[in-house]
Amino acid sequence: MQNRQFILKSRPEYLAGPENFDLKISPVLPLKQGEARVAVEMVALSAWQGMRTKDFKNFIRPFDLGELIDCDVFGKIIETKCSDLPEGVSVVGRLGWQDYAVIKQEQVSIVSKEFSAEEWLTALSSPGQTPYLALSQVARPMPGETLVVSSAAGAIGVYTVQLGLLSGMRVIGIAGGSRKTEFVTTKLGAHACVDYKSKSFKADLANACHDGANIYFDLVGGETADAVSENLAKNAKILMVGRVSANNSNDPEWDPANMRHVWSQEATIYAFSRYSYKNLFPSVNAKIGRLLKQKLLKMHNTNFSGFENTPSILNQMLSGQHVGKVLIKYADTKGNRI
Ligand SMILES: NC(=O)c1ccc[n+]([C@@H]2O[C@H](COP(=O)([O-])OP(=O)(O)OC[C@H]3O[C@@H](n4cnc5c(N)ncnc54)[C@H](OP(=O)(O)O)[C@@H]3O)[C@@H](O)[C@H]2O)c1
Repeated sequence: MQNRQFILKSRPEYLAGPENFDLKISPVLPLKQGEARVAVEMVALSAWQGMRTKDFKNFIRPFDLGELIDCDVFGKIIETKCSDLPEGVSVVGRLGWQDYAVIKQEQVSIVSKEFSAEEWLTALSSPGQTPYLALSQVARPMPGETLVVSSAAGAIGVYTVQLGLLSGMRVIGIAGGSRKTEFVTTKLGAHACVDYKSKSFKADLANACHDGANIYFDLVGGETADAVSENLAKNAKILMVGRVSANNSNDPEWDPANMRHVWSQEATIYAFSRYSYKNLFPSVNAKIGRLLKQKLLKMHNTNFSGFENTPSILNQMLSGQHVGKVLIKYADTKGNRI
């Protein structure tokens, strides 16, 4: 049995793509005591993967040249020498772009068959947990308040918009292009969505935020965050959750935000990381699981298949071509590699 992996070949000038990754094929190795083998069935692409192909300081170190590209995966244990990881169970973990991973217990979580692979990689993982935690633990939304969400059609954005609406907020999305703004209003149900690539962006945003933004869920930073700062309500809360606008740069610029607006509205900026709330993941997943079952929360993913397509699909995702979480199937239902 052979294992295919994608490793980092070179750092991209701008967006990572096929030219930056090498295919490495090697025989699978026998297991040692305490190890198990996972057959990867589905991988989830993330904005941070593009960022980690670059060489700048962030919340997580850059990939080394020659290193396996890491990402969240869903898979099944197909061989085991670890009593806590029995054959046949499904797991999620950060196991990367490969067919088979040799793991120890602490690298994965066993997941129930109650939810699908797609649900475990999206609503019940970072895309759902991040806004659930940031809103419930930090921003504490109130019905009638206005929530502004940037990258609203992205992996985290789609759940942020839905959770804001479930909290009774007036939700304004920000996204790139009319296809995405339409998706955010018609499919997600946001009250409005503004195109940050449009010439009339600032006027459109001011118009949509007529009562001011009480909560700004900031996934992108940069000029978009600056534009929102001009439309804050008194005592607004800014949740600094991501910095997509800097991810694609080799040398991220000064991140502009006019502090005069933050000061004059007596707003508070909260830098947020989901990893600071690890102990709450199980209880948050129980609540998100209920919302999924009640169909109050819906997944909006872009699905692909085929291991070999992974680098080009990452490039498409980073350039903003897809909505929601981008998922790639690596094996069919019988476990055959795709
Ligand atoms: N704090 C935490 O705990 C936490 C957890 C997970 C992720 N994050 C961070 O949250 C951010 C969003 O993550 P995600 O996985 O949901 O990614 P995402 O929003 O799905 O990222 C892809 C999207 O980014 C947008 N984009 C690309 N370049 C942009 C630019 N220059 N300005 C504005 N938007 C741009 C594109 O949408 P458009 O077409 O609309 O431009 C693209 O579709 C990332 O920075 C990630 O690192 C934080």
